[in-house]
Amino acid sequence: MNKLFLTCLTLFVVLTSTAHAQNTNNSSINNQKTKAMKFELPKLPYAANALEPVISQQTIELHYGKHLQTYITNLNNLIQGTKFENADLETIVKESDGTIFNNAGQTLNHNIYFLSFSPNGGGEPKGKLADAINRKWGSFENFKKEFNTAGTAVFGSGWAWLAKDKDGNLEIIKESNAGNPITKGLTPLLGFDVWEHAYYLDYQNRRADHLAELWKIIDWSAVEIRY
Ligand SMILES: [Fe+2]
Repeated sequence: MNKLFLTCLTLFVVLTSTAHAQNTNNSSINNQKTKAMKFELPKLPYAANALEPVISQQTIELHYGKHLQTYITNLNNLIQGTKFENADLETIVKESDGTIFNNAGQTLNHNIYFLSFSPNGGGEPKGKLADAINRKWGSFENFKKEFNTAGTAVFGSGWAWLAKDKDGNLEIIKESNAGNPITKGLTPLLGFDVWEHAYYLDYQNRRADHLAELWKIIDWSAVEIRY
């Protein structure tokens, strides 16, 4: 009887130890995966050629597939072993500087940018966002004109942003390089990328023409959700 009990006990201890070891190993592997894959390329809700002729397939493949992927890869590598290792993207953009800020900012900026388009986009915003635009600029047409002027006026590489403050008031903000209005306490709603990599293949030096065309593919339902 005692011998049977001891055999059962030994078997129980061996089985639970093995299970614990397996769990520990799995957990360790999962943690490594999580660290290595922290930020990922967002899935596009459209095909690479779906925004033509406003943005060509070649530009999407390079801008989204190469430039954005590089920012994300750089960010994942740069934050390892820093205080940002487990931080969310917005916190990193708000609190970092130097190369971490540049790559985090560009990751956030492009995530917003690429998820603001639809092949069925265009037209005008509706609801609360439309009301706020009309309050600030008088009409959607005036807002577009101001936004295009801001985007054209950014010297060198950067972004034109539509952003809101904590009270829902709207502003057009010009940012250089990886800038995002989130660092000024504002919420970004819509960003036009005026880095040459965004338009040079399709419009060469004609940045203003590119900005004027972008309105045809804006997915206002995606922008309205951010407001
Ligand atoms: Fe870009």
